Amino acid sequence: MFHAIQVWFAATPPAAIVRDVVWFKALLESAHILADGLVLFSVGMICVRVARASSPDAAAEAARRFAPWVWGALAVAVSTGLVLLTGAGRRGLDNPMFQIKLAALLSAALVTGGLQLSLARDAGFWTVNPRRRAAAAMLGPLCFLLWLATVFAGRLLAYSTAFFEPRY
Ligand code: HEM
Repeated sequence: MFHAIQVWFAATPPAAIVRDVVWFKALLESAHILADGLVLFSVGMICVRVARASSPDAAAEAARRFAPWVWGALAVAVSTGLVLLTGAGRRGLDNPMFQIKLAALLSAALVTGGLQLSLARDAGFWTVNPRRRAAAAMLGPLCFLLWLATVFAGRLLAYSTAFFEPRY
């Protein structure tokens, strides 16, 4: 199925531009990487305060302040990524490294959304008792590591043949 979708992508008009217009691909990749950096920074500001679980308000305040940047930058990463994907060929949907990246991305977005929602509902959710604080001390770093895994898998796409035999 992934291969069929990637073949369909390759026949779309943006695919030809991504493949043949070098400056356009370079601009897209630059915007993609800048957006990734902003996602990582904003998520980091939230995850550190969740993990520290020092005061009820610190994490909730960080989520209020930085969550819009997380989702805004992610929207840029997803939209530039989808255009890049049309012309990605073997680095596309049917590449195991890309599938690892997608799995990390979806898990990271779910954990980040869950943290943001829990803090929006109850600022003291992660500091109310020692068990919650212990959970926060694990969830904060886990959340950040999932985004880091997304970035590494994205970068390793260019070297994926060193890890996986090309399927097509
Ligand atoms: C649906 C969402 C996304 C799609 C479809 C997507 C797609 C792609 C594609 C096709 C490439 C490879 C371009 C190439 O080398 O030919 C790429 C590179 C990359 N992606 Fe994504 N991406 C998405 C989201 C993200 C996110 C959320 C992050 C990080 C938080 C990310 C990090 C990276 C990195 C670090 C690279 C390597 C850039 C380079 O080699 O210069 N991507 N992405």
